[in-house]
Amino acid sequence: MDERYNRVTAEFDPPFGLVDLDAFDANAADLVRRASGKPIRVASKSLRCRALIERVLKKPGFRGVMCYTLREALWLHEKGVSDDLLAAYPTADRGALRELATRPEALEAITLMADSADHLNFIDRVLGDGHPEIRICVELDTSWEPARRIHIGTWRSPLRTPEDVAMFAELVVKRPGFRLTGLMGYEGQIAGLGDNPANKIRGVALRVIQRRSAEELWRRRTAAVGRITDLSPLEFVNGGGTGSLESTAADPSVTELAAGSGLVGPLLFDAYRRFRPRPALLYALPVVRRPAPGIATLFSGGYIASGTGTKDRLPRPFLPTGLSLTSTEGAGEVQTPVRGAAADRLSVGNRVWMRHAKAGELAERLTTYYLVDSDDAVTAVPTYRGEQQCFG
Ligand SMILES: Cc1ncc(COP(=O)(O)O)c(C=O)c1O
Repeated sequence: MDERYNRVTAEFDPPFGLVDLDAFDANAADLVRRASGKPIRVASKSLRCRALIERVLKKPGFRGVMCYTLREALWLHEKGVSDDLLAAYPTADRGALRELATRPEALEAITLMADSADHLNFIDRVLGDGHPEIRICVELDTSWEPARRIHIGTWRSPLRTPEDVAMFAELVVKRPGFRLTGLMGYEGQIAGLGDNPANKIRGVALRVIQRRSAEELWRRRTAAVGRITDLSPLEFVNGGGTGSLESTAADPSVTELAAGSGLVGPLLFDAYRRFRPRPALLYALPVVRRPAPGIATLFSGGYIASGTGTKDRLPRPFLPTGLSLTSTEGAGEVQTPVRGAAADRLSVGNRVWMRHAKAGELAERLTTYYLVDSDDAVTAVPTYRGEQQCFG
């Protein structure tokens, strides 16, 4: 495989990203299969490349974009990528809000996330009295709290019970300048935590937790949706992520799912039992030194994934096989030594193909991805960074 990737990209100088479109399309088809007929909103943070978002949106089974900032949603709308954009994290970006208020078509296309009166107050303060109607999606806290002071999940929305949700939804419905359109709940403790980690005991515990959390969430989410729809009809109820498509799709109160990482197949998504995406996004680093037998040193490469700061956030050499990072240097700012028998077959100017731990963050380091199709045709496309876009 690395011979093929090396051959088709021979004229380009690494570092660069490569997307194997066969793998990407197969991953997309598998997400659609796992979604059991519910449409999937594309989580753009996990792609950060317009050409890839557009490619997925053309496929049956995908509908709309889950953006990570309002500014990004405004940009994607201006570029004509979609007219169904959910900015899935509350915004405190005054400039972006002011821009939204001046673009009538964007106002119809973009939905903002809110979970408290503070969010509505902020928007009112920025836009002033009589501002145009802003579409609002209410976020439900999906974490699992099996006992007092035990919180399993992310810290996102304070709206936990169906009553909390109903009270806030009523506030939105009654408040001039806002329109309630959706409900979202992302069960990170199921979707974002691989249930097949290296530690087998942890795996057993995780699977029990995830099953019980999913059952509890189905009941709570269904009740919350019931309470809101008594007040106002909802356009969508969004839930889940790559790791939870099966259980989220099985919840009848959910009308659409979200996924992004599963298209790319980063390292963290090797740790699931239910599915195994193909590694579709790789990056090439050049060999620049051979400091000792069994070691090749690559240029740059310290693309560490966000989150817990643990070892699983490191990238890993993928091809040629049999290489690993060193424990003393890891993946470095200006160089990344890799160790293994295959290193002895590498010389200056050869490449090593790496995998990132997460799906979208590589696009913050690289400006170009080369898309390789099954006929070995190569198309260069810019990442968000390559289009001079940086949304945080
Ligand atoms: C709100 C929300 N939905 C869905 C997802 C799932 O994204 P992915 O499929 O890339 O894991 C995430 C990931 O963080 C998220 O924050």
